Amino acid sequence: MKVDDLIAKYNLPTPRYTSYPPANYFHERFTEEDFRKTIAASNQLSPEHLSFYIHIPFCPQLCYYCGCNSYPMEKKNVVEAYMNAVKAEIRTVLPLLDKKRKIAQIHYGGGTPTAIPLHFLKEINEMLLSTFGCIDKPEIAIECHPGYLTAKHWLELVEAGFNRCSIGVQDFNETVLKIANRRPSLLPLEEIIELLRTNDISINMDFIYGLPGQTVESFSQTISRAVELKPDRLVTFSYAHVPWINKNQLILEKAGLPKTEDKSKMYSHTVETMGSHGYVPIGLDHFVLPNDSLNIALRNGMLHRNFQGYCTRETTGQVYAFGVTAISQLSAAYSQNTRSIPQYIAAVNQGLSPS
Ligand SMILES: C[S@@+](CC[C@H](N)C(=O)[O-])C[C@H]1O[C@@H](n2cnc3c(N)ncnc32)[C@H](O)[C@@H]1O
Ligand code: SF4
Repeated sequence: MKVDDLIAKYNLPTPRYTSYPPANYFHERFTEEDFRKTIAASNQLSPEHLSFYIHIPFCPQLCYYCGCNSYPMEKKNVVEAYMNAVKAEIRTVLPLLDKKRKIAQIHYGGGTPTAIPLHFLKEINEMLLSTFGCIDKPEIAIECHPGYLTAKHWLELVEAGFNRCSIGVQDFNETVLKIANRRPSLLPLEEIIELLRTNDISINMDFIYGLPGQTVESFSQTISRAVELKPDRLVTFSYAHVPWINKNQLILEKAGLPKTEDKSKMYSHTVETMGSHGYVPIGLDHFVLPNDSLNIALRNGMLHRNFQGYCTRETTGQVYAFGVTAISQLSAAYSQNTRSIPQYIAAVNQGLSPS
């Protein structure tokens, strides 16, 4: 079959590949009691490390393309109630875990975790890190929207103990960002990279191809600029158009999505540019420098993927997740929390599991 025919055949929306079975196949019959038993059992199962995921759902402005579990920024008191509930949820789970196990990963995702006052994240890091030991070089990672972060904010993230920042660039082309209702980076990326590198922070950058306003030429320019910046990891997500989940995406449909052939060329040009600048592909959409732990793991048969993304067999753990929509990934079962912020806060405040 010709490449164009293959693309036409498989160019269909499918569930995201982050888990098997995917989250839309999870069912409601898994009770609170089942969850507690599964957590207790996870203490005896491998992988032996602890991996914590904290979901911060709020965003100052919603990007029209967004396929994440994001909600408009709430008033100060709601953010505070939400974060108190997250801390309370963590407090109910920590006593169930084997204190001899070590933290391999702490990951804050969203939404936009960098949009809330940083002391909340600092407090959670302290709660976790004062309860358990860590493996050598644990990953303490956060997804960052650069549109709102000053140099002071970036330095505060370093001081809060983060050692990996995932920067959501999406595109350098300001017209593309404008159509998508997204703020460009407040600081030049060069300045952010310099600041993070000086402080020994690993840098990921996220891009999306397939957005309105992008052309094969314009996206090539974006990727050429990205590789010049030399982040440790580059991720180029294929835009997932799922307007039945996020109605805002209909605005982008109206603005005009690139043709399938063009989207496919954006990807193949990306692969070429990455390769010619020394980046190695990991899976469908990640590119890393050759000395990156993911590439070393790929070569040694130790590459892995959990709900926090690609990782190595050494850094993966049982994933205990907190906050709305967060998915715990234990060896014996997956369990997802409720999507509703008020329901989540109410359940945790009543001492119930928010799943
Ligand atoms: C939770 S966001 C990152 C943190 C922060 N909210 C930001 O936007 O910078 C995770 C990443 O998912 C990607 N993403 C969001 N919606 C997407 C979609 N519909 N299709 C493909 N990738 C998407 C973006 O690249 C984004 O950086
Ligand atoms: S891409 Fe990031 S900032 Fe934009 S709406 Fe989604 S989670 Fe929020």
